[in-house]
Amino acid sequence: AEVSTAPEPRLTTGSAELDRVLGGGLVPGSVVLIGGDPGIGKSTLLLQTLAALSRHYPALYATGEESLQQVALRGQRLGVADEALKLMAETAVEEVVASAQQLHPQALVVDSVQTVHTAALGSAPGSVAQVRESAGQLVRLAKTTGTAVILVGHVTKEGALAGPRVLEHMVDTVLYFESDQGSRYRVLRAAKNRFGAANELGVFAMADDGLRQVRNPSSIFLSRHEQAVPGSAVFVTREGSRPLLLEVQALVADSALSQPRRVTVGLDASRLALLLAVLQRHGGVATAGEDVFVNVVGGVRVQETAADLPALAAVLSSLRDRPLARDSVAFGELGLAGEVRPVPGGEERLREAAKHGFTSAVVPAKNVPRRRISGMAVHGVQRLAEALEVLMG
Ligand code: TYD
Ligand code: MG
Repeated sequence: AEVSTAPEPRLTTGSAELDRVLGGGLVPGSVVLIGGDPGIGKSTLLLQTLAALSRHYPALYATGEESLQQVALRGQRLGVADEALKLMAETAVEEVVASAQQLHPQALVVDSVQTVHTAALGSAPGSVAQVRESAGQLVRLAKTTGTAVILVGHVTKEGALAGPRVLEHMVDTVLYFESDQGSRYRVLRAAKNRFGAANELGVFAMADDGLRQVRNPSSIFLSRHEQAVPGSAVFVTREGSRPLLLEVQALVADSALSQPRRVTVGLDASRLALLLAVLQRHGGVATAGEDVFVNVVGGVRVQETAADLPALAAVLSSLRDRPLARDSVAFGELGLAGEVRPVPGGEERLREAAKHGFTSAVVPAKNVPRRRISGMAVHGVQRLAEALEVLMG
């Protein structure tokens, strides 16, 4: 009871999307780890962010990946070359800490945690012990001085943060930068956040002059087809606090293999196998001799079960070669008994769909709102068979 629990102050980063993912801004003394594939835009985002912050607070950007000239060139391209941001090209963590203690920045970026090393250990930079000890020193700096520290981390081919898992435990917030191959849109997701909701999403677009925020992401992820096409279903996901309209596409094709392929992009592959079993048992539709490909358009990785029903609707639509109604959306979790289970935030999802011009929805019966949503016909369903009947007409 005696511990002060005043809400922690926040520094706004100048980007509403980044602030949202952080849970309302950067917390002084916190440590944020940001991971993502090479070239996705981590350095770009952080240089822009820090430059914006440096208008109000001292800020320091330490890079072990690029030379000062390279960072300066990038700064010119981003139009932030005249900001008061301090830069250093340095790989010795003791030097970075010493500079931070001298300059007292409100925010310090270390790009990347794999390139810095400490003299205290003999092992090579990038080794587990080095990454861990260097990160430890930067965490201590954050906690003792109140500087917010942002660490860039490399990801492995499998998409996990390289280096020891222990990094994720040491820091307050873990963010991942994700994108579809070749797409200019980038999604920043909070995987862990001691100061806000996990799974919160921020959306950015890469342009010639750096990353821009996307304020209304539903409208970009949704490519409204001129005509309804088979194998496409629109659903409303709720990542973090914001509903988002997404399209899930399926392609079902006769397989030449004894073990037909089940391939997913943006959805869990084992979930698809489970859903196809439910479809066979409770929808009476077998896909045993078919290859099934399912893709969530736009490079968003959906981690919630609300995509179950639309994914199966897309599969069935492709299998039958019949499009779903063009202005309809669906969402809902499927149970192994063939029941359609409710998902959180049903009404909010329906409102988002109505806002974008959808006029009908197939949703779990328990998600049907008490009050009517104007312009939207909501069908509540309890069983998979019932849902497929409404969706396929
Ligand atoms: P970068 O921030 O260097 O990625 P990371 O630090 O995650 O490895 O991003 C580099 C990519 O972004 C590179 O392919 C070029 C592109 N880019 C733009 O399209 N516009 C820009 O204004 C900048 C600075 C980079
Ligand atoms: Mg970089």
